Amino acid sequence: MLIDRSSILSLLETRRSGKPRELTGPGPSRDELDRMLNIAARSPDHGRLSPWRFVTVGDDQRDALEALLRRALAEDEPDAPAAKHEKEHEFAHYAGQLVVLVSAPVEGHKIPVWEQQLSCGAAGMNLMLAAHALGYVPGWVTGWRAYSERVRGAFCGPGERIAGFIFIGHAGRELEERDRPALSAVWREWRPPD
Ligand SMILES: Cc1cc2nc3c(=O)[nH]c(=O)nc-3n(C[C@H](O)[C@H](O)[C@H](O)COP(=O)(O)O)c2cc1C
Repeated sequence: MLIDRSSILSLLETRRSGKPRELTGPGPSRDELDRMLNIAARSPDHGRLSPWRFVTVGDDQRDALEALLRRALAEDEPDAPAAKHEKEHEFAHYAGQLVVLVSAPVEGHKIPVWEQQLSCGAAGMNLMLAAHALGYVPGWVTGWRAYSERVRGAFCGPGERIAGFIFIGHAGRELEERDRPALSAVWREWRPPD
């Protein structure tokens, strides 16, 4: 297989997230989504446990998502102002394809849950990269919704949790580069202990 390494490198070097609230449609086609999820599902995974799930929310299910989020907000924050409830309408109707990334570790397995959660993060990252490679802009968010018991119950099985809401669309405006850490701040050469 001929691999154009310079294109792959520039793809990696230019990847950026978009803010889900600023994304525009359309989201990926069914075939493109299938391809992205296949790429995400071939992420590093110690023990071959596939400790992650992808739950897609259809465009025709956005009203149901809004109803779920409004109910969860009312339970978690009974005094939430109307403006906050209105945010749930907006969130549930962000443009593009919504993929809910679920961490699904196997408890009591010899592979520690921590490693399985790392694998879930890798699956999310690969999904973002695949979206970028196919010409889309993804945005990964968590926030209170990811930690709400009611929302968790609507997407996860027992022992699972929401790792993120990943919206996949197009940039509504030009994406600015964000500050990256100086390599010197995150890279050091190991010195063996005395
Ligand atoms: C696990 C995880 C959770 C995130 N949750 C949020 C969030 O709740 N709200 C938000 O604005 N961005 C969230 N982000 C996105 C980051 O804040 C940031 O926008 C993103 O990493 C941009 O960097 P990039 O362009 O290199 O992807 C999250 C990212 C990750 C990996």
